Amino acid sequence: MRLLVTGGAGYVGSHTVRALLQAGHDVTLFDNFSTGHRWACQDCPVIEGDLRNAGDIETALRGAQFDGVLHFAAKSLVGESASAPLLYYQNNVTGTLNLVQAMVAHGVDKLVFSSTAAVYGTPQQDAIDEDHPRAPINVYGETKRAVEDLLEAACAAHSLSATCLRYFNAAGANSDIHIGEWHEPETHLIPNALRAAAGTGPSLTLFGDDYPTHDGTCIRDYVHVDDLASAHMLALTYMENKQGFGVFNLGNGAGYSVREVLAACEQSVGRTIPHSIGPRRAGDPARLVASSSRAQEQLGWIPAKGEIQAIVDSAWAWEQFRADNLA
Ligand code: UFG
Repeated sequence: MRLLVTGGAGYVGSHTVRALLQAGHDVTLFDNFSTGHRWACQDCPVIEGDLRNAGDIETALRGAQFDGVLHFAAKSLVGESASAPLLYYQNNVTGTLNLVQAMVAHGVDKLVFSSTAAVYGTPQQDAIDEDHPRAPINVYGETKRAVEDLLEAACAAHSLSATCLRYFNAAGANSDIHIGEWHEPETHLIPNALRAAAGTGPSLTLFGDDYPTHDGTCIRDYVHVDDLASAHMLALTYMENKQGFGVFNLGNGAGYSVREVLAACEQSVGRTIPHSIGPRRAGDPARLVASSSRAQEQLGWIPAKGEIQAIVDSAWAWEQFRADNLA
């Protein structure tokens, strides 16, 4: 297929671009490089543009005859979304509106959208399925919910199919080709733990040990970024046969506490990692674990790299490469 990938220079986007290229698709990348990395863009044409400028995406789509768009471009830091909400609405909602308007105008009828477990807010059940009420507790999640709604309405009114993939905790890296996670500032648990181990970041703080979980720390469902990439390809195939709007959770269905993830990080690096216990971080639910049966049954998604130690090992291989060659 001929595909445009917005945010293709970012973490999940760059892994998906690699998978698409390996599968023989014709990929063009669209990114404003506000958080994406030029080193992550190899072997495909790059359009430098900003979705907030309707003209940028209009120009990219005009006459290009793309079969579909994979839409990763977004602001994605929960904390930042509280202090800069308008930036989040502009990037995530206005940006997607501009994209969808241009797609409808140019007859591009398939979209895969990066949504998030943050749309669920505080979960009311152990394994969260897609019918769980959406009740985001931060602006980031609100913007993703708004985009899901926008897409559902657009699919009902236009010749457009959209698949929303609700990621749980994206983690790991593709060790073969040296791409991986690199956010500045870094807020995520695994890279923070590994940077503390490597001495490239500060000592790790565990945000709270008084949650109602078996060891007092928060439980999350970590999913390898390459498994997220494969779900995007399956979503494209799915929309060939089934038109309209759909949502799918992407997680392994296994929860690991912050302490368990720290132990996996220590196992990967072969030594203890300096850490301390701090206060809870605002907006962290105690437990977020996916039911991904719908993705398994309808997309045929079978995560291949679900084992937490393998996920962390791949992140550690990347962290060492990053520190030695890129940082
Ligand atoms: N944590 C720490 N110390 C750190 C970083 C994180 O203890 O330095 C804890 C957090 O408090 C949380 C867990 O580790 O309990 C995981 O935190 P992450 O920041 O790695 O991931 P989140 O679960 O907060 O965020 C992920 C995605 C978001 C998405 C959210 C949905 O990265 O994009 O899930 O809830 F919005």
